[in-house]
Amino acid sequence: MAIIYLDNAATSVPKAPGVGHAVAEVIDQLGASPGRGGHRLALEAGRLLLEIRESVADFIGSGDASRIVFTSGATEAINLALFGLLQPGDRVITSSMEHNAVLRPLHALQQRGIETVRVSADAVGRVSAEKIRAAAIQGPRRARMVVLTHAANVTGTIQPVEEVAEWCRREGILLLVDAAQSAGLLPINVETMGIDLLAVPGHKSLLGPSGTGFLYIRPGLQPTPLNYGGTGSDSASPLPPEELPERLESGTINLSGLAGLQAGLQYLQSRGLHEVRSHKTALLEMLLNGLKSLGGVRIYGPGEASGHAAAVSINLTGRDPAEVGFRLDTDYGICVRTGLHCAAEAHRTIGSFPDGTVRISPGLFNTAEDIENLLGALSEMSKNRTQVHLNPSVNAWSSM
Ligand SMILES: Cc1ncc(COP(=O)(O)O)c(C=O)c1O
Repeated sequence: MAIIYLDNAATSVPKAPGVGHAVAEVIDQLGASPGRGGHRLALEAGRLLLEIRESVADFIGSGDASRIVFTSGATEAINLALFGLLQPGDRVITSSMEHNAVLRPLHALQQRGIETVRVSADAVGRVSAEKIRAAAIQGPRRARMVVLTHAANVTGTIQPVEEVAEWCRREGILLLVDAAQSAGLLPINVETMGIDLLAVPGHKSLLGPSGTGFLYIRPGLQPTPLNYGGTGSDSASPLPPEELPERLESGTINLSGLAGLQAGLQYLQSRGLHEVRSHKTALLEMLLNGLKSLGGVRIYGPGEASGHAAAVSINLTGRDPAEVGFRLDTDYGICVRTGLHCAAEAHRTIGSFPDGTVRISPGLFNTAEDIENLLGALSEMSKNRTQVHLNPSVNAWSSM
């Protein structure tokens, strides 16, 4: 049975052509650690790292590559921004559509005296910029930071980041954008959009390997490190260096992974972001129209392709989403994600808590035929209503 992968919101599969080769080339032919030592291989590794940093900075519209700090993914980037900049007594505004990568660090920070206000999104998962603004400026004290996902991971709902960024800049409130579901899909320019902090995974729509990601930090901000250790510079000092990115990149960097990320970016640029977005929008249109004509399917989120980044959540009437996902996998070879998708609050908001949804997230390499096959499978499943009895391990896996 051919496998149809429709779980690109978790991580993209396959990666872009050239990614595997770029990773292997660093491992097989370079191998040295950038910034560690003055021998030729270390210098070459340093040059490669700088080139990758410049490509990434250019991709998000930053004129200063030193403001790109490489991380293991979006989670580490978000933790770095939150733990590195927030102080006891600070107030943070966020939304009910955030991933646990945002909500859990904020919860942990509450124990340190940092208050979080969560603004509820509407039934399609859209957050009102005005409601966030009101919460930020009308509380007992002005907010220090707004943390907002660019696109929700459960429904794919695109959030009004530009509008929020505009008044955050005017009011002097920091804006951290979680671009896990938008980078490589929606245009992002940190300078023209006025984004202070941008957390990006390398392994989703940027088509790079897992274990890669980065945080953009606007000039003038100086987070404290999450990790302390060797940076290859000023080794006699017990303190981390002041300069970015070294200050926030202790330890040996994942150079092979980052070379893969650069290959992913190059591929995306060769296809053009506009074409990438049009391809995914065409697949989403086909998916949404097909789902609407099936009957017995509840679609969560805006329901129009232009309102979704690249994920759509559904439920079949009267069916457990975990069972639907299990059937799609075992009977049809279709991989989707089911359950709560690390975002329980988002499900409470859209009315799918506690069972969650079946999330379908097409990627750049999916075809119209993949969507037709999925729609065919869902149609058969809604006609054949026999439920399979799931063993507990299947449920546990799918609701992670
Ligand atoms: C909206 C959102 N934020 C953060 C993350 C965490 O990303 P990473 O796996 O790169 O740490 C995800 C992952 O699914 C996500 O969807």
